[in-house]
Amino acid sequence: MSDAVAVSAAYRLFSEVCRTRQIDIKPLCGGRVLVLSKRGITANVYGWDFGVNSATALLVCRNKAACSALLQDRGIPCVPHEVFYRPDREVFGFVYDASWSRMIEFFGAHPAGVVCKPNDLSRGIGVRRVSSVPQLEKAAYEVFRFSRELSLSPFVSIDAEYRVVVFNGRCRLMYVKRLPVVMGDGASMLGELIAAAHDQEWTDVPLGGLLEDVEQTRRITYVPARDELVRVGWRHNFTHGARAELLDAASPELRQIVDMAEGAARALGVVLAAVDVVNNAGNYHVLEVNTGILTTHLLQQLPSARPIVKELFGAVVEHLFELVEASERGSYGHGGLTGGTNGAQ
Ligand SMILES: Nc1ncnc2c1ncn2[C@@H]1O[C@H](COP(=O)(O)OP(=O)(O)OP(=O)(O)O)[C@@H](O)[C@H]1O
Ligand SMILES: [Mg+2]
Repeated sequence: MSDAVAVSAAYRLFSEVCRTRQIDIKPLCGGRVLVLSKRGITANVYGWDFGVNSATALLVCRNKAACSALLQDRGIPCVPHEVFYRPDREVFGFVYDASWSRMIEFFGAHPAGVVCKPNDLSRGIGVRRVSSVPQLEKAAYEVFRFSRELSLSPFVSIDAEYRVVVFNGRCRLMYVKRLPVVMGDGASMLGELIAAAHDQEWTDVPLGGLLEDVEQTRRITYVPARDELVRVGWRHNFTHGARAELLDAASPELRQIVDMAEGAARALGVVLAAVDVVNNAGNYHVLEVNTGILTTHLLQQLPSARPIVKELFGAVVEHLFELVEASERGSYGHGGLTGGTNGAQ
């Protein structure tokens, strides 16, 4: 087991949940795979993907363009993502010229800029805001170094990003992520303010990531006026300094977001997913849907989220064992199961 997995707050909590249910955990591949066993029945967890979604739902969510196309088709407001193929994918009938000219066309149609990122899981890597054709070419080149597909989406100015974890049709955990903020003193440069905040409060965030994101929005030499608040960066990833606040999904003012997330989960046929909804001046759109439920950073930042995450883990792991037991009895009714003993993969 890697040190990272062993020490993660999420792994510790998940182990506790399994222990109280007499479920043994055997980590494989440095913790990437967890083999859960109870009374001779085993189920596998892969990278915080709990094996309760159908294979199709999983593949759709891992493909940002497919996911947004399906949501649009079902009338759910979302940030559109279009896919482009690496030049060496001609075997599939997609040629470099077609991809590149379509990319320039897409860029031209969105004067506020576009976001270029891998079309599959990116974990924040290779996600670039682009506002010129040379920047687009550089960003595309970077993505294609490690991914066969990239997606472009129009840049949306995000006031807040909500994460809604939906399980079996209902929201079970909800929080909002906001960008970190610094306050000007009328003398210090933005880069200096960020470095000082990093030393004092944001010690868990890589300084390089913060400064890289700032460079894409403002100059680090900019001197904010006294008491001026400046949002740092634009990516709402914990690894780029986003700050989380736990929300009560039952509160009426969040109804629209919760309904949208639950509707997105239904449209995609996912049993368990973390749906990201963004707020742009009061307009809400689904940005992406993740089937992996990552809680390490959340638990580090907000230990108060522990009881809710614990309840979620408990419900999910029990559901997983019910699926496996039903499949072994031959009474499994889920359309996604293709055989084996681990529920839908
Ligand atoms: N079109 C966009 N407009 C504005 N901001 C965006 C856009 N796309 C992504 N972002 C910002 O960048 C962050 C990372 O992008 P995204 O969530 O799509 O990828 P990821 O989290 O790296 O991918 P994954 O969760 O699949 O590993 C988002 O949380 C969001 O704040
Ligand atoms: Mg994301």
